[in-house]
Amino acid sequence: TKIGHTIIIILGATGDLTWRKLIPAIYNLWLDGWIPGEFAVIGVSRRKYTDPEFGKHLHEGVDKFSRQGKAKKDHWDVFTKYLTYLQGEFDATSTYAAIGKQIKALEKKWNATANSVFYLAVPPNQFEGISMKIGSSELAENKEKSRIVIEKPFGHNLESAINLNTLLHTHFDESQIYRIDHYLGKETVQNILAFRFANALFEPIWNRNYIDHIQITVSEELGVEHRGNYYETAGALRDMIQNHLLQLMCLIAMEAPISFDANEIRNKKVDVLNAVRKMKPEEVHKNAIRGQYGSGWVKGKKVKSYRQEPDVSPSSNVETFAAVKLYVDNWRWQGVPFYVRTGKRLNETISVITIQFKPVPHHSFPVEAIENWQSNKLILNIQPHMGIQLSFQAKQPGLKMLLNPVHMLFNYHDTYTGGTPEAYETLLIDVFRGDATLFMRADQVEAAWTILMPVLDAWKANTSPNFPTYDAGSHGPQDADALIAVDGHNWITIP
Ligand code: BG6
Repeated sequence: TKIGHTIIIILGATGDLTWRKLIPAIYNLWLDGWIPGEFAVIGVSRRKYTDPEFGKHLHEGVDKFSRQGKAKKDHWDVFTKYLTYLQGEFDATSTYAAIGKQIKALEKKWNATANSVFYLAVPPNQFEGISMKIGSSELAENKEKSRIVIEKPFGHNLESAINLNTLLHTHFDESQIYRIDHYLGKETVQNILAFRFANALFEPIWNRNYIDHIQITVSEELGVEHRGNYYETAGALRDMIQNHLLQLMCLIAMEAPISFDANEIRNKKVDVLNAVRKMKPEEVHKNAIRGQYGSGWVKGKKVKSYRQEPDVSPSSNVETFAAVKLYVDNWRWQGVPFYVRTGKRLNETISVITIQFKPVPHHSFPVEAIENWQSNKLILNIQPHMGIQLSFQAKQPGLKMLLNPVHMLFNYHDTYTGGTPEAYETLLIDVFRGDATLFMRADQVEAAWTILMPVLDAWKANTSPNFPTYDAGSHGPQDADALIAVDGHNWITIP
């Protein structure tokens, strides 16, 4: 789709997200020729900054975080002309009047109506106020061309998500709202759709008849860093599972879309969320576990416990690890457990989805010939290794009949040359194009909260869990092993 003239208004322009992710992404898109000639970035924040100071700050961010390395001087000198800074309070009407004036001036200069993209790079408690101001200042009147991008977390629970959706819908059509889940912009995540629906090979066995269970793991070595303030209001379930992990689950479990239309894809995904079995309060302890990291060693470095981190309460009951067992009650997935887990300060940084196929129905080989009957696995590596691995039994060369699993590997780095765009590049260009396929629709967000509410409620009611439950640098709490062991499984480590 042709993009047309575009004005990106970043609310929260001096914050971390703008510095680390948004501007490096916009810069790379521009550098690679993805942004049309006429565009502008208006950065809005409270801090006092001149345009050159703002530019300098962003330049440092690009040098530090751009996937293409430091910006060349002559490139940056051109790019910086697209950036302006506007100082203003987010709750002042005058700020939005000033934004409106700048938009009008640019449109006059270009002699065209531009797309105006309002990016809310602010803490979640400001989503409501800012979006209402954008609306009441009539900056969202053009339903085709003005768009709003909202970061996660979208709501704090089901009720607040519904309230936020209702509020947004007073000024914005759903088609103007882009709720970001940056996992959906990752190359390897987008590839799940290609793998499943551009190949006829796996679809016939992609169901309860052949699949034993599915594991989705997103583990991080990083701790909570400087985000204690936010994290204390969130925890692993809200921060990661409600959005990223449930979205991965949707891609694995959804039915084939009829087309690549944004609503068609999202309909199929929301069907999955709506089919997830709702836990009864008394079932939560069997299906969901939480943990919090103590001090420990990560990659040879001594690290603090969560409760010692900045802005974290020394008696915090916030979980930094969560594992949940879910079932999708439909024809395809009846009885197949989906185990999802995520945590901070674990032994490795890896995001991976494992599809464990059932063992053969009859053992023709002598028992001693096979070391592992559950050999058929498909492993989708999201990051940092990008690729897909298929494991199957092979006979070891030799005079004895001895079988063991071998692995067939598709690896991005061996297959493709050239860079991989960052998730934010993909997602921003989609917003500019007006393509919402990779963004969360109102009903998806609410359906995801609905699944997790019993867990959140149960955990809130039990305020005295025995934290910490795992050492930093370990593979997580033992309860997580127990959660899956009762079904006769264990968490799969990647060979
Ligand atoms: C964010 C979470 O959404 O995702 C962070 O708020 C987490 O807590 C991050 O660290 C992980 O993203 P990625 O792309 O590094 O896997």
